[in-house]
Formats: sequence, structure tokens, C-alpha cells
Amino acid sequence: MHDTPHVIGVSGSLRDDSGTRIAVQRALDAAAGAGATVEHIDLREWDLPLFDPDASAADSGDGPELAARVCEADALILGTPVYHGTIASPLKTALDYCGIDDVEGTTIGILAVAGGGFPTPTLQHLRASVLELKGWPLPQDVAIPDSWAAFDDGSIADEDIGERVEELGSNVVAYTGVANRREETDQSELATGD
Ligand SMILES: Cc1cc2nc3c(=O)[nH]c(=O)nc-3n(C[C@H](O)[C@H](O)[C@H](O)COP(=O)(O)O)c2cc1C
Repeated sequence: MHDTPHVIGVSGSLRDDSGTRIAVQRALDAAAGAGATVEHIDLREWDLPLFDPDASAADSGDGPELAARVCEADALILGTPVYHGTIASPLKTALDYCGIDDVEGTTIGILAVAGGGFPTPTLQHLRASVLELKGWPLPQDVAIPDSWAAFDDGSIADEDIGERVEELGSNVVAYTGVANRREETDQSELATGD
């Protein structure tokens, strides 16, 4: 873990006016306010061919570089739009390039943006996926339903939702390294003989 926590946000929408990107950026701003260094991975700028396990690194575009960046993160903020009731393919492709070695022990904040109602299944799908990668998703994720009304001129229209997004950003910083705390506790118990 870095002395100053490093938080990477990944937005799973390629749309220019993406609400997901706005929300991930707001969470990252809050993470920066909580003392982290932050980086927003905007998948429009990355060459990510559909993941093919048979492809060589040379034929995998920016996939290996993306996995290497994710590996450096102490925490991730993953945002996905809801596409057909689940994770959007750009984010899923990005995650497919990552392995357990890249994500294990990383604190993860999850958010989902839906055109319709509360996107609980999508949040659960994303949670299940990062758990398979041995990441540590925060118990509280953020849902942004009714996206057509949720964003206004590049920002989140509803301040309650905005505050929840900010809380997600500051919480990933507060809980960086949580995966190692058991080990640290065991060590201190050994030292004190408790
Ligand atoms: C291919 C596609 C599938 C979608 N499927 C759903 C869906 O199943 N449920 C839903 O609530 N919204 C659905 N939507 C709407 C998006 O979730 C919504 O427009 C969201 O704001 C997109 O995120 P973005 O603003 O970050 O691009 C879909 C949109 C697209 C383009």
C-alpha cells in the first residue's frame, strides 16, 4: 500500500454525456479531498479489444497496461451504466483484462446508473464480479436511478445522491488496506500477548 492512498476510478460508459463518468469523477474528487491521489480511467481513451485469452500481449491493445494500473491502486471506484439489466460491456471488458493478482485485497466502491428504476441486480452483479477477483467491495454502494433526471449540466442534480457518491469516495480512502487489518491485528496481538 502507498503512503498516500492511490484511488483509481473506472467509468463503464463510452457516451460523451455519461452520467456514470460524472458520478465517478465526483467520487474521485471526494477521495482526493480525503487525502488520496486519484486517477480517472476513461475507457473512451483506451484501446481495449474484446478480451481473448488466446491473444498475445501485443494483440491486447491497452489491456495489459490497464491491468498494471489497476494493480497499483489501493482502492477502486467502479461505475457502470445498466445495460440490459447488468454491467455494461466496456467495464466488463476492462475487468476481464484484470486478474486476481491485480485486484486481490483492493478496497472497491461500486456505483450503477440506470435509465429506469433502482439498479439493485446490476450492483449485485458487479459486486459478485469483484469478489471473484478477491477485491473488498464496501457494503454500501450507490444507485443512481432515473438517469434522465439525475444529472444536470455536467453534475449530479439531486444533492442526496451527490452526498452518497461523495461518501463512497471518502469511504474507499478510509477503508484502504482493510484486507490487511486482520494480519496487522494478529501481529499486534502477538506483540502484546493478548
Ligand atoms: C444498450 C442499453 C441498454 C440499457 N438497458 C437498461 C436497462 O436494462 N435498465 C435501465 O434501467 N436502463 C437501461 N439503459 C439506460 C442506461 O442505463 C442509462 O441511459 C444510463 O444513464 C447510461 O449511463 P451513462 O449516462 O453513464 O451513459 C440502457 C441503455 C443502453 C444504451
